[in-house]
Amino acid sequence: MSTCDTPAAATACSFDPRELRKAFGQFTTGVTVITTRAPDGRRVGMTANSFSSVSLDPPLVLWSLARQAPSVCDFQGASHFAIHVLAAGQHLLSRRFSTPQQDKFVGLDCAEGPAGVPLIDGVLARFVCRNVRQYDGGDHLIFIGQVERCERFDGEPLAFHAGYYQVTVRHPECV
Ligand SMILES: Cc1cc2nc3c(=O)[nH]c(=O)nc-3n(C[C@H](O)[C@H](O)[C@H](O)COP(=O)(O)O)c2cc1C
Repeated sequence: MSTCDTPAAATACSFDPRELRKAFGQFTTGVTVITTRAPDGRRVGMTANSFSSVSLDPPLVLWSLARQAPSVCDFQGASHFAIHVLAAGQHLLSRRFSTPQQDKFVGLDCAEGPAGVPLIDGVLARFVCRNVRQYDGGDHLIFIGQVERCERFDGEPLAFHAGYYQVTVRHPECV
């Protein structure tokens, strides 16, 4: 049993947070953009790689948002959000939605989903979710979404590893 197995012992861990961040970054993920409509009508969106599928029945997903993110109140107060799984060519879209700015949607053609949620095209998959639950996740807030609409499109994924955007290739020994 390591010294970090219990929450009480967590503060005793001696590793550098920068090392922890780098170690977390060794886990390769896809990249998503999560959008919503703020209670005051603004379109809101952010890049997130914390997305994960949770349950098929009921259909649930999760993702986490930094508590200090400017958009946190908008997502907390929203009835729905849409999760867009980005394609390999959408790294600039990821950059757009990970850079704080007044309106991240300028010049972007979007349709509207339930409750006015912005829907972005050209993605690999899109999940329109009801914002059903939120949990404490330390310096992040964990959102659980119940999938109400799910779409899938062909294409290659955008990946993120060790702080860099990546493209994936099929393993040569598993073709
Ligand atoms: C590839 C990538 C993945 C990210 N994943 C997350 C995430 O899962 N949760 C989070 O809070 N921020 C994440 N960020 C940072 C946010 O996208 C960034 O802080 C953004 O500005 C937040 O939106 P806001 O400023 O409109 O609140 C990620 C950034 C990048 C580039």
